[in-house]
Amino acid sequence: VRRARPFAIQRLGHFGISVQDAPANLDFYRRQLGFRLSDQIDFGGRLPADADRAALGATVGSFLTHGSDHHSYVIFPKRAFDAVRAVDEPGMTVNQITWQVGSLEEVRRAVDWLADRGVRVMRAGRDMPGSNWHVYVFDPEGHVNELYYGIEQIGWDGRSKPTAMHARVFREPPDLPQPAEASEVRDALAKGIDLAAGHTSLEGDDATFDVQGILLPRPFKVVAIGPIALFVEDVAAAEAFYTEVLGLEVTARSALEGHPSVFLRAGTEHHSLSLHARPLRSVLGLSEHTTLGPIGLRVANYRQLRDALAFLEGGGATVSVLPPALRLGIEWAACVRDPDGHTVQLYFHMDQVAASPAPTSPVDHGPVASWPSTVAAPVGPSGEAFLGPWG
Ligand SMILES: [Fe+2]
Repeated sequence: VRRARPFAIQRLGHFGISVQDAPANLDFYRRQLGFRLSDQIDFGGRLPADADRAALGATVGSFLTHGSDHHSYVIFPKRAFDAVRAVDEPGMTVNQITWQVGSLEEVRRAVDWLADRGVRVMRAGRDMPGSNWHVYVFDPEGHVNELYYGIEQIGWDGRSKPTAMHARVFREPPDLPQPAEASEVRDALAKGIDLAAGHTSLEGDDATFDVQGILLPRPFKVVAIGPIALFVEDVAAAEAFYTEVLGLEVTARSALEGHPSVFLRAGTEHHSLSLHARPLRSVLGLSEHTTLGPIGLRVANYRQLRDALAFLEGGGATVSVLPPALRLGIEWAACVRDPDGHTVQLYFHMDQVAASPAPTSPVDHGPVASWPSTVAAPVGPSGEAFLGPWG
């Protein structure tokens, strides 16, 4: 198939934030939002010898998931993570925006293609934990984007791979072809590695909410991550990177008080990423500590959205609603803040774009004036389906 670039993004696979208070955020995303912990990584052993460990605080990063991907959400301790990489980036709390592409060959060919175009490549290889083959690049303002193939899948037993299988880590782009994962598992068995020795993401059983027939620890289930929003200095330059380099397509544009926004999609969803002029951050009253805008999390249905907001309010959260210009393609949505002040936007349905080119008029659903007990079913398909059971 002839394409404009040697890779094609299929979906937003996972996403990561760097936080000041890693334990509080881990608790919030697990206990309040229901993410499961699939693995942890301690940056303590990689700190420079002269690091002020007391000032750095927590050094453990966490990999969380809502489904079968090894991780869909990553929480790293910002001070320790920055110290390990010898960077000081105030405002940069995005640690990765991660896109699934079509094959390992696409990842491998992307490494050279991106470098040839002057894109700043951070590194390429294969990370453990998670097992995904990848290349990391920076957008024009320093947000890390990752392209990957083949993330480890977590099954019904909640087990991640044992650390003894992490030997297949790669710090450089791989030569192709590589053995299939099934071969790696057979090799591990032959070496006597205990496949059940990995971390388990099974949570305690305090499931008291009847969620449309299933008992869960909270009255909703996060079934998808994204879209991601960024506040950028130069919207046009960022748009050029995400369209011309990464291949996303513009679905719609909006403006609020003269400040532009652009909405970009990777597949049929109205958008997986939105770019907003930096001044909008203060117009909206969002936290000035980060260039990251609202983080979208999709719950399974409208009833769960209402119940989620009530549940989070009961846990002390303040619920707010973004103006329509900031959530084109999403009618019912509301936001809460995580412990670091990042905005999390919950919704249950995003408009789907059936074919390219996209409709020219923005799908503006207007203000959320109230939360009726029933709403009209959204028009059109609902997008990526959640594959497994909710709990
Ligand atoms: Fe990643």
